Amino acid sequence: MTRKPNILTPSSESLYLAAQNLRLGKLVAFPTETVYGLGGDATNDRAIASIYAAKGRPQFNPLIVHIADKKEAPDLVIWNKSAEKLADTFWPGPLTLVLSRAPDSPIALLASAGLDTIAIRCPDHPIAQQLIEQTQRPLAAPSANASGKLSTTCAQHVQDSLGEDVSLILDGGPCPVGVESTVLDMTSKPPTLLRHGGVTKEQLEAYLGEIQESLHDESAPKSPGMLLSHYAPTIPLRLDAQTASEEEAVLLFGDEEKVKGGGVRLNLSAKGDLTEAAANLFAMLHQLDQEKFKGIAVAPIPQTGLGAAINDRLRRAATK
Ligand code: TXA
Ligand code: MG
Repeated sequence: MTRKPNILTPSSESLYLAAQNLRLGKLVAFPTETVYGLGGDATNDRAIASIYAAKGRPQFNPLIVHIADKKEAPDLVIWNKSAEKLADTFWPGPLTLVLSRAPDSPIALLASAGLDTIAIRCPDHPIAQQLIEQTQRPLAAPSANASGKLSTTCAQHVQDSLGEDVSLILDGGPCPVGVESTVLDMTSKPPTLLRHGGVTKEQLEAYLGEIQESLHDESAPKSPGMLLSHYAPTIPLRLDAQTASEEEAVLLFGDEEKVKGGGVRLNLSAKGDLTEAAANLFAMLHQLDQEKFKGIAVAPIPQTGLGAAINDRLRRAATK
């Protein structure tokens, strides 16, 4: 097969370029020991929105945040003794820990899809590690495949699946583990295994005692209330609004004239750009979620591209 120009062999030049692109909010596909990741700056909502756009998922599924060393974890999540023990044993390696978001965590709200937990792991791959270090940012990275397609374990498959959406692909050859990381939710007692992967349940139980299982089918759409309980505003949300009362907050999209009235008005994207709207979604919902308002009136949002995921999220918040 012919190699397209954006597949690069790792070198100090290509790593420098990749890190620079990531810092500018662009996407870079990189190898990990499990599968290739579609990486973006985990602290940049715009970069995260473009990850969701590239994957073409109709929903926001929370992403794994990759770090180069466990000492970076306590700034991002609420770290504890059990997490430390697991990290000492299995990191770097194919184990993802779900922990509560740290109060001043710099991780973009969109990366955790509005959850108050963050999934974090330290990949055991020299290129992944060097890339995170050079970028000096944690990297959010789902498996580098379009939604509904197989995870990718070589650069050419990434190129075939997502080539047009990434600035470049770092070619680290085939991924040695070949299956995704194990996902373990540490916020429950006992901890809950959310996804089987490179580290086995038995290996974990040797350190933690018994753990429970609550596996979800990643290919099936999650219904509201299932497993992942997302943030929803405490005041009511109303969709497809055309007018709002003075006691309501308004969340606009595009043309301001589409919704009249309202006490406070915020625009997800004045220019009607769905990627910008996705990047602003959670922060703006938080901003408008104030007791002094009777509710939030949301302007109609197109159902195309990222609009599907935005509408899915808003619909769930409206019917909670
Ligand atoms: O091996 C891997 O984990 C690869 C490489 C690139 O690191 N990444 C990967 O990411 O498989 P992705 O996005 O395809 O899968 C992430 C999984 C999903 O099942 C997601 O629901 C779960 O992690 N997840 C992420 N954040 C979560 C959270 N806060 N709570 C519960 N589950 C979470
Ligand atoms: Mg995946």
